[in-house]
Amino acid sequence: MSSIALSKRFPRDFVFGYATAAYQIEGAHDEDGRKPSIWDAFSRIPGRVRGGDSGDVACDHYHRMPEDVRLLKSLSADAYRFSIAWPRVIPDGRGPVNEKGIDFYDRLVDELLRAEIKPYATLYHWDLPIEQHGRGGWCARDTAYAFADYTDVVMARLGDRLSGVMTLNEPWCSGHLSYLIGEHAPGERNLAAALAAIHTLNLGHGLAVQAIKARRADLPAGIVYNAKALYPVSDRPADIAATERYRAFHDGVFMDPVFLGRYPADVLDAFGPIMPEIAADDLKIISTPIDFLGLNFYAPERIAADPALPYPHARSVQAENVPRTAMGWEIHAPALDRLLTDLNARYELPPIYIAENGCAQYDELVDGKCDDPGRIDYLEKHLSVLADARDKGIRVDGYFVWSLMDNFEWSHGYAKRFGVVYVDYETQARIPKSSAIWYRDLIAGRAQAA
Ligand code: NOJ
Repeated sequence: MSSIALSKRFPRDFVFGYATAAYQIEGAHDEDGRKPSIWDAFSRIPGRVRGGDSGDVACDHYHRMPEDVRLLKSLSADAYRFSIAWPRVIPDGRGPVNEKGIDFYDRLVDELLRAEIKPYATLYHWDLPIEQHGRGGWCARDTAYAFADYTDVVMARLGDRLSGVMTLNEPWCSGHLSYLIGEHAPGERNLAAALAAIHTLNLGHGLAVQAIKARRADLPAGIVYNAKALYPVSDRPADIAATERYRAFHDGVFMDPVFLGRYPADVLDAFGPIMPEIAADDLKIISTPIDFLGLNFYAPERIAADPALPYPHARSVQAENVPRTAMGWEIHAPALDRLLTDLNARYELPPIYIAENGCAQYDELVDGKCDDPGRIDYLEKHLSVLADARDKGIRVDGYFVWSLMDNFEWSHGYAKRFGVVYVDYETQARIPKSSAIWYRDLIAGRAQAA
């Protein structure tokens, strides 16, 4: 389907945007008062990030911000989802506000508004100030309250001009991947620490929503999950039950407290003795109503029962002979519908935004151009599924492609390219790939069609 035909399936007020995150693009790691985050420290530990890469320079967006906003404009962006670096704004996690740090986001928001691009800010995309890590990081309740204080500072300054605010990006990564699997900063492998982090993240989210609303009650506030689209490997009851447990442990621990005001009973049964303190009002705070749900969707997961493994006694299994992205992630767009349908069956949900969707490909610059038909195909398939889901009544109000440009892909460094815009890291030139043109035309076509 041409992008024009697909674009006609989305109404004019559907929000199409581009997404990025501070540590992945900004660089300027020690400028204007910014202090290190856990990712600055982690990327300096040999072996943690491929090739010893770090976000020290990244896409140098900190110095090229106006040019990048012009780029967004040239690509027909309705909206831009960026994240705010806590270590720029309150470099020690708690304590004095760094005016130069918050100024940067103030200018970014103004540039966006001048270009008629709606700003959506994520408050936490994994760059915890290292000093706050020293106070126990996400394992310590103090971090939830420090996060709420930081949220208040950001809202006091930017709240009047934002179109939406996301508290946390993918808390699963800040909990499970960072404290249990050890692949993300701070790289721990400790179940009790992970459970404590999960609860502090939830509490921090709830307190942040309250801080946002206290400043501006009408500002849409939400959270972004990488909720999993799960398929049991067979219809054996054991695999189906394992899939449900897997979901409870990976997604339920975040979404049940927010949408149901409780933790999954199964998880409490399994981990009761090592669960962190849950104070009397915590779940009330965590379940403070939100205005939208952000979902980052990339790939499905296939689950098999494995009684030999600890709770949730389940294993993620790789499907064979399926198309994959450069990350090795399975490409299966119908899984997006499965996810949306499943979540709507489980919870009373507010409107949904796809806060990220996209893929890494083996992109190369040839004669100054980058053709990426595989990415166009990926985006088209997912957007078609999204249009179908909307047609059957699932409320999705927006979609942000990940990412505006190639950037620091966490433990994979710069080796994985997710951008619709190619970044030449030698020169910092931005070169729109053919997918950027395709997506630009999709957005522009919809506007004309209305
Ligand atoms: C989700 C994360 O939010 C983003 O930071 C990351 O680059 C993409 N997934 C791709 O892995």
